[in-house]
Amino acid sequence: MAMVGSANTGSHGHRGHDHHGNPDDLRAYIEKMESPGRDEWQKPAEVLAALAVKQGDVVCDIGAGPGYFALKLARAVGDKGAVFAVDVEPRMLEVLRERIEKSGQRNVMPVLALDDDPLLPPASCDLVLIADTFHHFPVGAAYLERAARSLRKGGRIAGIDFHKRELPVGPPPKHKVSREEFLEHAALAGLELRAEHHFLPYQYFLVFEPRQRAP
Ligand SMILES: C[S@@+](CC[C@H](N)C(=O)[O-])C[C@H]1O[C@@H](n2cnc3c(N)ncnc32)[C@H](O)[C@@H]1O
Repeated sequence: MAMVGSANTGSHGHRGHDHHGNPDDLRAYIEKMESPGRDEWQKPAEVLAALAVKQGDVVCDIGAGPGYFALKLARAVGDKGAVFAVDVEPRMLEVLRERIEKSGQRNVMPVLALDDDPLLPPASCDLVLIADTFHHFPVGAAYLERAARSLRKGGRIAGIDFHKRELPVGPPPKHKVSREEFLEHAALAGLELRAEHHFLPYQYFLVFEPRQRAP
C-alpha cells in the first residue's frame, strides 16, 4: 500500500520522468492523451452526464493537461460558466492556451499551480474534477483538503483514475493509486463518498462531498 500522506506512487523523478511524474517525451504523452481512440474507453460525454455538469457551473479540472476534459467542460458550462484548468507544467498549459485560442472558447482560465496546491479561490467551484492525475500528486489527503476549500456549498470532488493493475492504457501499475488508496486519502481529507460510477472499463470513478460537520 502507498503511504497515506503521499499520493505519489513512484513515477516522480524516475528515469524517463520529470519531477511532476510526466514522461520526458511530452509530445508523445500529449498525443496519447488526445488520441482519437481515447473517447471509446474514457467516455467523456457519459462522464459529464454522470456529473450533471450544467450551464453556468464553475468547474475546476486539476491536472488539466492539454485540455481533454477542460475544453469539453467549457462547452458544457457555457458562457455563463467557467473552467479553471489547473496544471503544474507550463508546456501543458501552453498547448492548452493554443487550443483555447483555436476553439474560440473564452471561459477557460489556465492556472499554473504549485505541486501541492491548485491555487484556487476559496468557495468558487461547483465541481472539482481530478482525472488521471491523483497519482501525480506529491501529497494525497492534504491536496484533496486544499482542493475542497475551493468548493462552494453543495460542491463535489470527482476522482477518475486507472485501476491498479495491468491495462491496455494508462501508466504501469506501480505508478498508479488504487481505488482503496484514493478512498483512504479522501476520508483523511474529510470527504465522503456520495456516488460511484462503474461504466468506465479501465478506471474507477468516485464522487465526494465534504463531510457535514455536526451543528
Ligand atoms: C495523465 S495527465 C492527465 C491530463 C488530463 N486530466 C486528462 O485526463 O487528459 C496528468 C496531468 O497532471 C499534471 N500534474 C502533475 N502533477 C500535478 C500537480 N501536482 N498538480 C496539478 N497537476 C499536476 C501533469 O502536468 C499532467 O498534465
